[in-house]
Amino acid sequence: MSLLLGIETSCDETAAAVVRDGREILTNVVASQVDLHAQYGGVFPELASRAHVEAITAVVDEALAQARTSLAHLDAVAVTRGPGLVGSLLVGVNYAKGLALGAGLPLLGINHLEGHVYSLWPGMQTDPDFPLLVLIVSGGHTELLLMTGHGCWQRLGGTRDDAAGEAFDKVGRILGLPFPGGPHVERVARDGDPGVWRFPRAWLEDSDDFSFSGLKTAVLRAATIDPNDRQPQLRAEVSVADLAAGFQAALVEVLARKTARAAERCGAGAILVAGGVSANQALRTALRQAGTLPLLVPPPELCTDNAAMIAAAAHWRWQAGQRDGLDMEVLPRWPLGAPHSFS
Ligand code: KG4
Ligand code: ZN
Repeated sequence: MSLLLGIETSCDETAAAVVRDGREILTNVVASQVDLHAQYGGVFPELASRAHVEAITAVVDEALAQARTSLAHLDAVAVTRGPGLVGSLLVGVNYAKGLALGAGLPLLGINHLEGHVYSLWPGMQTDPDFPLLVLIVSGGHTELLLMTGHGCWQRLGGTRDDAAGEAFDKVGRILGLPFPGGPHVERVARDGDPGVWRFPRAWLEDSDDFSFSGLKTAVLRAATIDPNDRQPQLRAEVSVADLAAGFQAALVEVLARKTARAAERCGAGAILVAGGVSANQALRTALRQAGTLPLLVPPPELCTDNAAMIAAAAHWRWQAGQRDGLDMEVLPRWPLGAPHSFS
């Protein structure tokens, strides 16, 4: 049994949540900075840290109040330790340390990517059959992993350049859509014909790696009058919907086919997709069509960054005896499967 407070500040959401036993979300409070960063067309690290500092006390207090609990009733404080923006991570980790010290609670540092995977656990009665083939697709990461048990990771591959969400956001910017581009590209693509543009697919032969920067450049060339301009102008005659649909079709086809192939090769019992881009319906459809294994997807509100997933991931590490010291440092680059994992 565990009652854990989770804190997440790795990028541009200040979030806190209270979760019981890794499966029951009591509260999940997210203060988004999207509006703050939208004017810059991307996340502005210094502004992000400052906004976390301003929001964190209210967000944590609200999470505890809504859960009708207090620090005295918790078993531990869990916080995202990495990967992410160093200044943003520091706000959450230092705040969590303060809470843990003040209340005499254990502290657990959690990997943000592992958190995304555990966004599947709330509401799940029993564990799925391991091994699971895991695809994490977010603004900063595209990772293909084999999960052989709780906290046990084998990294198969990942992107060699842009992350899937980053490609969506860059194409969104090219097409003149608001930040972050992913959901807008998906919305616009619904009215487009994915067959008009046949953008390149980087299969990278037998490797489990991905590459999306060529695809993004191909969209830039197709969409703009002069791709070398600092702010390239869209061609008047092209349909933004067709471009969005062609881009999305190319990206999800590569993700789905390579994921399904790796899952079969590894004898996985199911495919689990998580991270912001897992909200994309075209990706979910492509993953379902690419293979025969069951597809596990988080509910929409848990796809993008939140703290319930951090508290859920922390439950299994708590059970396995992980406790971190008050000297715990942030790990802005922290791949899953690296030291600090169980395996
Ligand atoms: O997981 P997340 O909230 O933050 C990171 O850890 O990066 O993912 C954010 C990313 C952004 O790039 C955003 O454009 C993308 O997820 N995203 C989507 C969709 N919803 C969010 N991409 C494609 N389709 C969507 N529906
Ligand atoms: Zn994330």
